[in-house]
Amino acid sequence: MDSSQEHPTSCCITKETGGALHRVLCMQGGDDDSSYAKNSEAPASAISLCRPLLLKAIQSMKVFFSNKDEAESLRIADLGCATGYNTLATIDMVVDALRQQYINHCGFEPEFEAFFSDLPSNDFNSLFRSLSNIADKKTKQYYAAGVPGSFYTRLFPRGKLHVAVSLSALHWLSQIPDAVLEKTSAAWNKGRVWIDGAKKEVVEAYAKQSEKDLEDFLSCRKEEMVQGGMLFLLMGGRPASQQPENQLGDPDSRAKHPFTTSLDQAWQDLINEGLIDEETRDGFNIPAYMRSMAEVERAIKRCGGFEIERMEYSRIVEHSLEKQKQWMRDPISYGRAKANLVRATLGPIAEAHLGPYLSHQLFIRFQNRVSSDIALLHKTCYYGVIVVCAIRT
Ligand SMILES: C[S@@+](CC[C@H](N)C(=O)[O-])C[C@H]1O[C@@H](n2cnc3c(N)ncnc32)[C@H](O)[C@@H]1O
Repeated sequence: MDSSQEHPTSCCITKETGGALHRVLCMQGGDDDSSYAKNSEAPASAISLCRPLLLKAIQSMKVFFSNKDEAESLRIADLGCATGYNTLATIDMVVDALRQQYINHCGFEPEFEAFFSDLPSNDFNSLFRSLSNIADKKTKQYYAAGVPGSFYTRLFPRGKLHVAVSLSALHWLSQIPDAVLEKTSAAWNKGRVWIDGAKKEVVEAYAKQSEKDLEDFLSCRKEEMVQGGMLFLLMGGRPASQQPENQLGDPDSRAKHPFTTSLDQAWQDLINEGLIDEETRDGFNIPAYMRSMAEVERAIKRCGGFEIERMEYSRIVEHSLEKQKQWMRDPISYGRAKANLVRATLGPIAEAHLGPYLSHQLFIRFQNRVSSDIALLHKTCYYGVIVVCAIRT
């Protein structure tokens, strides 16, 4: 029997998915239809969007070694790398740009070490398999290593990294804020699974967690990076005009975002059908927060040791017009595609909370809800992102 067909005798509860999140949070591994590798179109658009900024930032970086005999390897880390096309594209983009920079200015190519880092629950096996192409070559483009661990903790020795990038990852928090899960707290997020549109106390608890997490991330990178090294971050974000309770901007994006309406409805369906009780739903929250540029800037200033070279807010459209037209002709396939997307990102934490059978049921309800809401298909959803480039001073 497929594990998704088994009915669980018990489910993991609150602390398992909250405090110990680093053990279960990850994108869905493998390469089937609900894998992250097959559902990373928006992060891929994010990579295309940031390419010119990243290339420009690398061109303006100081040169660390001017002659080949003295040159050490240049060390690059991708923090929250996941697995799939985007993972390799990110490192390729940085290595190519750095190589060109050294050829142009110093007349030689340094060696490169690339560290692929993510939570231990990441599918490193798939990642390493996809690296085998470069491993077979005699002249390596770079030497690769996997570094399991949370980017909210130290991952490298002091003064190790020349470039650290983190793309579409830092909006994931280190944990669900405790208060949001406590029944007796004013910040208990009853009846919802995310922060968008939640009451003030919930929003404040998420904002506080986000502030602490970003400061932890920055202070670890401050230790690990060499002077003159570059930190390049792209994370889910919101524009200055949007208050934190409005995480997603315009009403169309909010209605359509995979963390909001249809997902809340799918959880309610499980309750209405008697498959779970309210307490089980209320024990699940999505550990993600879209920061504003002011929040990011404040954390960087408070941490010290970095100078912001550039920071901007942009919007990414969820998918191409061509795809939207295709889905309008076949709303069922639209529901399936969106359910795959949500499974790819939330599958592992939903499963840790509900068990395989009920999480499968949740995503079926989600798929049905999306397929039957034709109005959604005609809306365009935008993902806001903040891009920051900072130099370690
Ligand atoms: C949406 S994926 C982005 C992957 C890839 N960078 C891209 O652009 O496609 C987010 C990744 O961040 C990772 N992540 C989330 N929290 C993390 C943490 N505390 N430490 C390290 N990685 C984390 C997740 O496991 C996931 O692989």
